[in-house]
Amino acid sequence: MPVRHFLTLLDLSPGELGDLVARAIELKARLRQGLDRDLLRNRTLAMVFEKSSTRTRVSFEAGMAQFGGHALFLSPRDTQLGRGEPIEDTARVLSRMVDIVMIRTFEHEKVERFARYASVPVINGLTDRFHPCQLLADVQTYIEHRGPIHGATVAWIGDGNNMCHSYINAARQFDFRLKIACPEGFDPDPEIVAGAAGRVQILRDPREAARGAQLVVTDVWASMGQEEEQQRRARAFAPFRVDARVMAEADPDALFMHCLPAHRGEEVTSEVLEGPQSVVWDEAENRLHAQKALLEFLLLR
Ligand code: CP
Ligand code: NVA
Repeated sequence: MPVRHFLTLLDLSPGELGDLVARAIELKARLRQGLDRDLLRNRTLAMVFEKSSTRTRVSFEAGMAQFGGHALFLSPRDTQLGRGEPIEDTARVLSRMVDIVMIRTFEHEKVERFARYASVPVINGLTDRFHPCQLLADVQTYIEHRGPIHGATVAWIGDGNNMCHSYINAARQFDFRLKIACPEGFDPDPEIVAGAAGRVQILRDPREAARGAQLVVTDVWASMGQEEEQQRRARAFAPFRVDARVMAEADPDALFMHCLPAHRGEEVTSEVLEGPQSVVWDEAENRLHAQKALLEFLLLR
C-alpha cells in the first residue's frame, strides 16, 4: 500500500477522519484497561522539533511508549539539520532508520518537501500554516462531551493563523459551520476559506461570531515566530478577548477550547479558561489518544 502522510486534515477522507476519532475514543478506554501495550512494538518515531513544544512532544513520546514502541526527539541544535543539511537528505536518511516521522517547523513547504523525499509516513506536528493533530483532539473532545460535531456551529475568535486554518479544514471535513471573528489584516488565507465551500463566515465582532455557537475556540495572538509582533498584535486583538460577555452570547451549553499554551488576560480571561465551560485539560489529554489513533492508522492500516 502506498505511504500515507498527515500534513493537513485534507490528507484523510471524511470517513477516515471520523473512524480515526472514534478509534481515539476507544483507545482512551482501552489504555485505562491496560490494553494495546504491544501494538507498535519495535517501531520507532522520529520527532523533529524546530519550535518549542510541551503537548505535542509529550503526547507523541508517551503514545509510542504506551504502544511498546520508541520515540526519538531531534532538535536542530544537535542534529545536522541545524547545520544546513538539506531536508531532502534528512528525509531519505531518517526513512532508512525509523518507521514514521513527525515534524514541527516554520514553513509548511518544508514538511511537504520532507514528505516528498520520505519513504515512511510523515506527520505535521505544526507549521506556520496548519496544526492538524490539534484538530483531531479538539473534535474528539467535542464528541466526548456533546456528541456528533456534524452540523454544529463553532466560533473561532482571534488570529487567522495555523489553528484557524485547521479549523477551516475541519469545518469542511467534519461538516460544521465556522464563524470566525478576527481583526482586519489578520484574516485566514482566502484560498483555504474558499475550500470550505460556504461553511465559513468571517466577521469583525467576537460577540456576533459567538452568538448561538456550541463551541468557542481561541488561540494566542502572537504565534511562535511572531514574538517581535507581540505589541502590535496585542493592540489589534484587544477587542477579541474571549471573556464572559463573549461566552454569554454562545449557546448556554457551549464548550470553550484552546490548544494551549494560553495567555490569561490576553486572548482569554482566567475566568473563562478555568470556568465550567472550559474543556482545555480534556482537549490537551486527547492529543495523546488522537495521535495514537493516527500512528496506528498510518503504520498498521
Ligand atoms: N497545543 C500544542 O500543540 O501545544 P505544544 O506547543 O505544547 O505542543
Ligand atoms: N498558533 C500557535 C499554536 C501553538 C500550539 C503557534 O503556532 O504558536
